[in-house]
Amino acid sequence: MPIESTKNIWHNGQLIPWEKANIHVMSHVVHYGSSVFEGIRCYTQPNGASIFRLPEHMQRLIHSAKIYRMPLGYTVEQLNAAVIGVVEANGVAPCYVRPVAFRGYGEIGVNPLRSPVEVYIANFPWGKYVPGNDGADVCISSWNRLAPNTMPSLAKAGANYMNSQLIRMEAEVNGYVEGIALDVNGYLSEGSGENLFIIRGGTLYTSPLANSVLNGITRDSILTLARHMGIPVVEQALPRELLYICDEAFFTGTAAEVTHLRSVDRILVGDGSMGPITSALHKAFFDIVNGLAEDHFNWLTPVTVREPVAV
Ligand SMILES: Cc1ncc(COP(=O)(O)O)c(C=O)c1O
Repeated sequence: MPIESTKNIWHNGQLIPWEKANIHVMSHVVHYGSSVFEGIRCYTQPNGASIFRLPEHMQRLIHSAKIYRMPLGYTVEQLNAAVIGVVEANGVAPCYVRPVAFRGYGEIGVNPLRSPVEVYIANFPWGKYVPGNDGADVCISSWNRLAPNTMPSLAKAGANYMNSQLIRMEAEVNGYVEGIALDVNGYLSEGSGENLFIIRGGTLYTSPLANSVLNGITRDSILTLARHMGIPVVEQALPRELLYICDEAFFTGTAAEVTHLRSVDRILVGDGSMGPITSALHKAFFDIVNGLAEDHFNWLTPVTVREPVAV
């Protein structure tokens, strides 16, 4: 999907024009993948617009940077203010917000410690990520997710997405919309950019953080909603074949939101339609982000955009 540009990008504390947000080809990140980033959605509600779980995203960015010994120089509160500032300055809602921090132009060589840290925050309009409203037809990837103690999966680092790209490209060339990777021990991990949930016998299952998954903020939101709604929740290592015999399955993610799986490896999940528990969680999630239910968990940070587009 082509990026629709906006007017401003936040760079190290200032708003700069979109077209001036450039880096040198010899920047460390270009050669060694030394970046961490976030993806956040800003939704519109009947009375305005709000960013979904902004502090949690900014905390994860700081944690991703900490794992890579990358001092950002900003607190969660300062980053929150920066995101609100750029969204309000650009006046675009709903939108997707992309903060990224990386090692810039400094030294050549693997060691990043003497290359400067640059922080940028962009926002732009963005629609549905996993295509189709009738559910996603996905496959199990031939690629495994990152093995423990290789690339840390709790860091949302640009370099992790080379693995995600392999999974996603393989899925597409084989006629699927997404791939699900197993971890190095053969247990279910996650999609190339989504966490995975399975429902069987009325219980909601998802892989724990030890199965090489990103600590997804939508994952946490769904776990919170499920517990609140009295749905039994189990985080445990899950065998691949559970996907073929479960009642329902869905992806979560900022980009994917809550997307039900219609089939896995051409085997229908249930009868292929969105099942009752997925539907209830889907509705609970969208009611909150669309401002149709009370924001019980304090997940929405209001922003003032000049002309919010109605939902
Ligand atoms: C690999 C991976 N897993 C899971 C997720 C879902 O995380 P979140 O819900 O925080 O967007 C993402 C998206 O950021 C991702 O890239």
